Amino acid sequence: MGKQIWKPGNMVYPLPAVMVSTADKKGNTNILTIAWTGTVCTNPAMVYISVRPERYSYHMLKESGEFVINLTTEELVRATDFCGVRSGKDLDKWKECHLTEGKAVSLTYAPVIEESPVNIECKVTDIRELGSHHMFLAEVTAVQADESYMDAKGKFELNKTGLLAYSHGEYLGLGKKIGSFGYSVRKKPAGKRAKRHEGSSGTPEKGGQSQAKNTGIKNRKAGR
Ligand SMILES: Cc1cc2nc3c(=O)[nH]c(=O)nc-3n(C[C@H](O)[C@H](O)[C@H](O)COP(=O)(O)O)c2cc1C
Repeated sequence: MGKQIWKPGNMVYPLPAVMVSTADKKGNTNILTIAWTGTVCTNPAMVYISVRPERYSYHMLKESGEFVINLTTEELVRATDFCGVRSGKDLDKWKECHLTEGKAVSLTYAPVIEESPVNIECKVTDIRELGSHHMFLAEVTAVQADESYMDAKGKFELNKTGLLAYSHGEYLGLGKKIGSFGYSVRKKPAGKRAKRHEGSSGTPEKGGQSQAKNTGIKNRKAGR
C-alpha cells in the first residue's frame, strides 16, 4: 500500500484546542479558541499562540500584550467550539457560554476563565508576523490550577480533568492511559522483574538500567 503525497499543509495533530482570554486596556475582554499553540521553552516557561490579524481579539492581544491560555475539557467542548466560530465583535461570548471572568494573579488586563481547570497567564514578549498568522511569543507569568483536582498528597491530577484534544477538525476525549514519561526504559520493581524473567535468559534491557533513577518529578521535568 502506498502513500499519497500532499501539498504542504498543517497536519500536526492531535493538538489542544484552548480558550484564550484577553483584553484591551479599556477593560473590554474576549475569548477566542486557538489550536495553533504550544510550549516553546521550559526555563523561562514560554508558550506561543498564532492568531490571524483579522480576528477581533487580535487588537486586544497587541494592545495589552496579555492573554491567558485556559485548558479545555470535555465539559467545556461546546463553549470551546462556540468561541472559535463566533466573534466577540458580534456578541458577548462570556454570557453566551455561561463562562465566568476571574482575576489573573500576574496580569493587569486579561482575565482567566473560572470554569477551566488550568489558567496559564502570559505576557507577550515578541510578535512574529509569519504570514496568515502572527505568532505571539509569551512568557508564562503564573499558572492557576483548580484545587479540586489535587489528590491527598497535593499532586495535581491534570489527567482527571477530562482534557480535550483537537485532531483534524474533530474534538476528542483523551482515552485511557497507556504509559507514562520514560516508562519504556524504566526498571520494573524487584518483585515484578523477578516474575518477568522467570524461565527467560534474565538479561535486563540496557536502557532500563541506565534510566532507572529517572522516576522523580524533578528529573522528568529536566528531561524535557
Ligand atoms: C478548534 C478551533 C481552533 C482554532 N484555532 C485558531 C488559531 O489557532 N488561530 C486563529 O487565529 N484562529 C483560530 N480559530 C478561529 C477563531 O477562534 C475564530 O475565528 C474566532 O471566532 C475568533 O474570535 P474573535 O473574532 O472574537 O477574536 C480556531 C477555531 C476553532 C473552532
